[in-house]
Amino acid sequence: MTTTNNSLGLYLHIPFCVKKCKYCDFLSFRCNESAMISEYAQALIEEMNLKSADWHYREVDSVYIGGGTPSLLSAWDIGRIMDSLRENFNVADDAEITIEANPATLSDEKLERYLRKGINRLSIGVQSFENHVLQILGRVHSKNDAFYNFQRARRAGFDNINVDIMFGIPGQNLKMWKDTIRETIFLRPSHISLYSLQIEEGTEFYDMIKNGEMEAPDEETDREMYHMALKMMQAVGYEHYEISNCALPGYRSRHNLKYWSYAEYLGMGLGASSFINGSRFSNYDSMYRYIKAIKEAKAPVDEKSIKNYSQREEMGIYAFTGLRKMAGIDLVDFRETFEMDFFDVFDKRILEKFKGRLVLKEDKLHLTEKGMDISNRIMAEFI
Ligand SMILES: C[S@@+](CC[C@H](N)C(=O)[O-])C[C@H]1O[C@@H](n2cnc3c(N)ncnc32)[C@H](O)[C@@H]1O
Ligand code: SF4
Repeated sequence: MTTTNNSLGLYLHIPFCVKKCKYCDFLSFRCNESAMISEYAQALIEEMNLKSADWHYREVDSVYIGGGTPSLLSAWDIGRIMDSLRENFNVADDAEITIEANPATLSDEKLERYLRKGINRLSIGVQSFENHVLQILGRVHSKNDAFYNFQRARRAGFDNINVDIMFGIPGQNLKMWKDTIRETIFLRPSHISLYSLQIEEGTEFYDMIKNGEMEAPDEETDREMYHMALKMMQAVGYEHYEISNCALPGYRSRHNLKYWSYAEYLGMGLGASSFINGSRFSNYDSMYRYIKAIKEAKAPVDEKSIKNYSQREEMGIYAFTGLRKMAGIDLVDFRETFEMDFFDVFDKRILEKFKGRLVLKEDKLHLTEKGMDISNRIMAEFI
């Protein structure tokens, strides 16, 4: 099998946050000790040195510094991470380079350093423009912090900014959500990620719902909020290109599109996962084991995570990730990738089963907006 895009995406994980939000199960820890964050930055640099021998011949056209909260890194640490990135990898001149930021952790100094070091896309976790909702979520910033830092990033020179917002939150009504969308589109970010709140085991929200301290999100309201947001965004020029993502023309996320287009990526940092040369694997998610491996100059890959799926399983992954895109799956590309016809592998009767929700048109198989509401059910059919 061959993957579709020959350029590589790099993901760098920064697993620290000012405070853990009540809904979040991402691999991140509360940490405000700059010495510890700096020590981790050093380990990440050493991992880049280790990996470059194997991968420096590949062109890198996207880099995503995600977390956690990468904007917790000092200007100095982000500077040396970026220098090491360019020394060790063949980063294209026009590569898309994103950093995730929490509004509580930005400063003029950091924003200037990002731009100077070639970071050209900022992704800000706003979540809501309603202080009451921010409080429910356990966020460390206010509505004003989000507004102010967005404008500050613009003033510093960022033209490509994504804003993350969330809906389906207990205590958030339709009006509050509508206000958040209005404020978001007023700022006119180039990209908007809109996430339906997921209740994940191990989070404070999960326990609160289990103990009857909070009501579970209401499915019907969640769907109403989703379609309302899409309508409002599309009316002012945003293109809905993936289940949870809208962008102004020309601003789709190159890096995230790799995850949905069966393209290769290399992850570095704690717990970071990779898909490369037909193999899927992740780094240790224990800080102790990760740092120990790096100190011994060994790749910090968790042997237990290495997965070499069968061709049939990979076809399933291709299908369910590809269906996240509004453009859907290109059946010609599928044939070129796996040397088999899509409907020789998957039962064509699925089109009847999900009539009006899953559509085949000119070699493209895609979900309709109605199909997006039951996307998990449809995608599960391909696994
Ligand atoms: C790594 S965070 C972004 C940057 C930064 N950590 C922040 O929160 O400001 C990625 C995004 O995932 C979304 N997210 C996290 N947990 C979620 C959950 N349980 N349900 C839905 N969206 C979630 C949030 O919108 C968050 O901004
Ligand atoms: S949502 Fe962002 S800031 Fe909050 S805990 Fe998760 S990664 Fe950290």
